[in-house]
Parts: sequence; structure tokens; C-alpha cells
Amino acid sequence: MCRSYRIPGLVVAAMAILISQSFPLQAAEVTRGAMLGTSCAGCHGTDGRSPGSIPSISGKSAEFLEQILKGFRSGEIPSTVMGRHIKGYTDEEIRLIAEYFASM
Ligand code: HEC
Repeated sequence: MCRSYRIPGLVVAAMAILISQSFPLQAAEVTRGAMLGTSCAGCHGTDGRSPGSIPSISGKSAEFLEQILKGFRSGEIPSTVMGRHIKGYTDEEIRLIAEYFASM
């Protein structure tokens, strides 16, 4: 009887591995990106969908978001508030935030 449970167990394990590998981000990284992203909601709207004149940031490519955020941080791209806000984030945190909003 015990043996009959082994194969489904292996199938489930194999499926779990396949599923986890088909997502580009590890679950923990997504959670961290989501947590870091909450500080953006006040201006860019819930889930990065802005209801007002500040641009929406969800659904843009991770490369675009990472580049523009680093540009704001270095001052290369002029900004009113973004340069000051993003100065507190590391490269790693910017990457996680960019991947989080790009995934929406
Ligand atoms: C205090 C309000 C405020 C907060 C908080 C804020 N932003 Fe912004 N964001 C702006 C404004 C205003 C602009 C337009 C550029 C400027 O003048 O700073 C902007 C521009 C951007 C842009 C460029 C969008 C485009 O298409 O040109 C991105 C990307 C962005 N913000 C991402 C973020 C992320 C990610 C966070 C959280 C880590 C965040 N912002 C937090 C106000 C804010």
C-alpha cells in the first residue's frame, strides 16, 4: 500500500520543481519587492496604477524601471521628488522593485 503513494508524491515534487522554475522570481524576492513597493503607492497608486497626473508604473518593463530609477538616483535624469525618494534604495532593492511592478 505504501508504494502506491510514492509515485504521486514524486509527480507532485516534480511538478512543484517545474512550476517554481517557470517563474523568473523566487517567492521570497517577490514578497520583498512587494514590501518595498508599498512606499510608492502613495503617489503612483495602488499596485502602481495611478489615478492622477503622476505616471503609472505597473506593467512597464523591469529594464525600463530599473534604468529610470537609477537615473533618478544618480541625478542623470532630472526629477522633482523621485531623485530624493529613490536615494534610500540599493541596486538590489531597485531591481526587486522594478521586477515587482513589471510583473503586474
Ligand atoms: C512623493 C511622491 C512619489 C513617491 C513616494 C514615489 N514617486 Fe515615483 N514619481 C513621482 C513623480 C512626481 C514622478 C515624475 C518625476 C519627478 O518629477 O520626480 C515620478 C516618476 C516615477 C517614474 C518614471 C515614470 C515614467 O514613466 O516616466 C518611475 C518609474 C517611478 N516614479 C517609480 C517609483 C517607485 C518604484 C517608487 C517607490 C520606490 C516611487 N516612484 C515613489 C512621485 C513619487
